[in-house]
Amino acid sequence: MHENREFSDTNKQVQVYYDQSDTHNFYQKVSGGEHVHIGLFQHPNEDLEVAKKRTTEYMTSLLNIDDKCRILDLGAGYGGTARYLAKTYSSRVSCLNISKMQNAINLQRNQEQELTSFIDVQEGTFEQLPYSNSSFDVIWSQDAIYHSTTPEKVFQECSRVLGDEGELIFSVVMLDDSISTENQQKLTQYYSLNLQYLQTYRHLAEEMNFCESKIVDFSENIQINYSRLLEKMEVLQAENNQLWSLDFYTKMKQRLLDWVDAGEKGLIHWKILHFQK
Ligand SMILES: C[S@@+](CC[C@H](N)C(=O)[O-])C[C@H]1O[C@@H](n2cnc3c(N)ncnc32)[C@H](O)[C@@H]1O
Repeated sequence: MHENREFSDTNKQVQVYYDQSDTHNFYQKVSGGEHVHIGLFQHPNEDLEVAKKRTTEYMTSLLNIDDKCRILDLGAGYGGTARYLAKTYSSRVSCLNISKMQNAINLQRNQEQELTSFIDVQEGTFEQLPYSNSSFDVIWSQDAIYHSTTPEKVFQECSRVLGDEGELIFSVVMLDDSISTENQQKLTQYYSLNLQYLQTYRHLAEEMNFCESKIVDFSENIQINYSRLLEKMEVLQAENNQLWSLDFYTKMKQRLLDWVDAGEKGLIHWKILHFQK
């Protein structure tokens, strides 16, 4: 695993957040452990893991993935998607992630599942990709790009490392045009999030000469996803209040409540964006 140490202050804050044991316990015990992104639910009581897997399956359905495909996953989390892509399509997947803890678990799971010849894991930031030009056919990202304060750098880097006709696909939570500054601050205050408007992503893609293939709105899943996480966290907290610090629990509970509320009011959206070079 190579390391890229030129991190901005925001990058460092995000790394600290994802590398703390409270966050890790939350993602392992509440969010399913493999996938941290929002699920595509067929009904509100559906199993979280099934819904999260459906998000990945839906995104792959928009692409032509095969065993020759070189895929880069930006903000790859614990590597659940990389293992899915390697097992389903025998694709080569590079996982780029700023979190040391998640990378270590990703590597361990790849070894246990004998997938290390398909998947590599690198610590780094998506604003400064540690890969050479035209290295990939597909760049993929699930609910991660909203951490960047400089999305224009992310798009520049994606354009650089994608080969001719390469595809960029990502899911992301974004702001509704009507959102007030107060609500915007409320939604982003705890975890170094930098939510953008759809127009920003469209503009950045256009500047990099990407063509828009498809933008799909799945916003109704925000409220379901975050309500389900909240419910599960509350049950676990009642059983054992030592799983995370009280400070983490209190802030995370408020964040989940805020996101459910914002989802219900239409102040944020969750979309899948697909572009082609
Ligand atoms: C909400 S999690 C999503 C993880 C994964 N995509 C998934 O769906 O399970 C966001 C991920 O982005 C990573 N991340 C945040 N900022 C990053 C950056 N600047 N460069 C690389 N990874 C970053 C975090 O470490 C975390 O793994």
